[in-house]
Amino acid sequence: MSAGHIFLVGFMGAGKTTVAHLLSERLGRPCFDLDEMIEQRAGRTVRQIFESDGEHAFRDIESEALRSTVELDRAVIACGGGVVLRPENRVYLAEHGTVVYLQVTAGEALARVGDAASRPLLAGAGGRIAATSLLRAREALYTSSADITVDTMGKSPEAVVDELFGLLGQAEGGAGARD
Ligand code: S3P
Repeated sequence: MSAGHIFLVGFMGAGKTTVAHLLSERLGRPCFDLDEMIEQRAGRTVRQIFESDGEHAFRDIESEALRSTVELDRAVIACGGGVVLRPENRVYLAEHGTVVYLQVTAGEALARVGDAASRPLLAGAGGRIAATSLLRAREALYTSSADITVDTMGKSPEAVVDELFGLLGQAEGGAGARD
């Protein structure tokens, strides 16, 4: 491990972006969102990339954006839900920081993302079925990538951050999560 980041992984709607912001404030560390980094690189939204170039092209940009975090110092990074799909990304995550898996059920994820228009993989009438099968297919990848797992069900983002703060302290050696 070199860059010492905290990577938040998990399904769409798990609260990764919200939790990343709250956690970064609490730890006094910078906060980044991989989807935003992708959009900046591509000059297009995630939805536009999916629509015009397809998922494979999106995953290529996602992997590039992930690798670019090597230049950042001890950041809190909210990753897109599919970052764990590529084996090289999983190796990168393991080597560059602490990986936190925020767990959510498919039903709750759909409720949290609303109409899902900004999530191409869940958009449309088949969203519920897609969420269930995607989550089932990915669950083992999230779990095996994670150093720390937090169940977010029935918890506010603040409560998740409280729990995570304690677990990071244990994982990184007391208040070492702060520095
Ligand atoms: C995706 C999750 C999205 C975004 C893209 C693909 C996925 O990010 O990267 O729509 O494959 O799970 P969030 O998890 O931040 O919604």
